[in-house]
Amino acid sequence: MILRLKDIHISFTNAHNETFDLLRGVNLDVEKGKITALIGGNGTGKTTLFNIISGFEKNYKGKIEFEGHEVNFKRMPAYKISMEGIGRLFQDGQLMSGLTLMENMKLASNDTTGEIPFVSLLFPNRYKQAELKKEAQAREILTRIFGENNKYLSLLNQDASAFSYGEQRLLSLARMLMGGDRLLLLDEPTSGVHPQYINTIAQIIREMKEREGLTVLLIEHNMHFVREVADTCAYLDEGVIAEVGPTNVVLGNQKVRNSYLGL
Ligand SMILES: Nc1ncnc2c1ncn2[C@@H]1O[C@H](COP(=O)(O)OP(=O)(O)OP(=O)(O)O)[C@@H](O)[C@H]1O
Ligand SMILES: [Mg+2]
Repeated sequence: MILRLKDIHISFTNAHNETFDLLRGVNLDVEKGKITALIGGNGTGKTTLFNIISGFEKNYKGKIEFEGHEVNFKRMPAYKISMEGIGRLFQDGQLMSGLTLMENMKLASNDTTGEIPFVSLLFPNRYKQAELKKEAQAREILTRIFGENNKYLSLLNQDASAFSYGEQRLLSLARMLMGGDRLLLLDEPTSGVHPQYINTIAQIIREMKEREGLTVLLIEHNMHFVREVADTCAYLDEGVIAEVGPTNVVLGNQKVRNSYLGL
């Protein structure tokens, strides 16, 4: 078990000053080295749950264990949680504009040799070696995903904002392979991406698991995609995980079919 959510509750106040309980006791065990899909209707609290796990939302009740230890996520700023090895792809997440594709890739690496000023000043060789290693790694990842001599290899120095929305989604996923993350939270990786790339995304995610041994928790509305990639599926409904189990079992469940899939 890499991540365990225990009895997570969160409430918000709406524009009419009414309090509503969004999450009402979420319990979920995310198994290490597996791909788990979190499904559920719009506005059911999936992204909010990711915000809780990645430290952006502190106002919740309940406990979170990461790699067997209870982590005080409430007291930890989001950037520290990401340094603990939890990476995130945001629902509308794109590359950082103003930086080149290569800079975006390098920034995703957990090797910070180049970011410690004294190291780069006092040990220029060590700094240079680390930079070269990251550049080679970026090229290797892009080749693995998009093939030999793909166009991104020749566009590494292009500003990120010059890539299309869908390309930025794909490249944002690719950059997640640079880091030392052990758990990846992906919020709707296929959203806004042309169907021709959906298989590429499925392949990137499966590679994350198989080659890197990463654990992936992903939110997704594309059920075909969920069937393709997810080992386990958890259905969030009315503030709780109403069903959880092997993907084909959960997607075949009558309640899930009626209330979410509309079948
Ligand atoms: N900080 C907040 N204050 C008030 N309401 C909030 C806050 N954060 C989330 N909500 C509300 O909680 C609900 C759940 O939002 P959330 O983004 O988690 O849904 P979701 O399951 O990810 O939906 P979708 O599938 O549409 O992305 C929404 O109605 C949202 O407006
Ligand atoms: Mg969402």
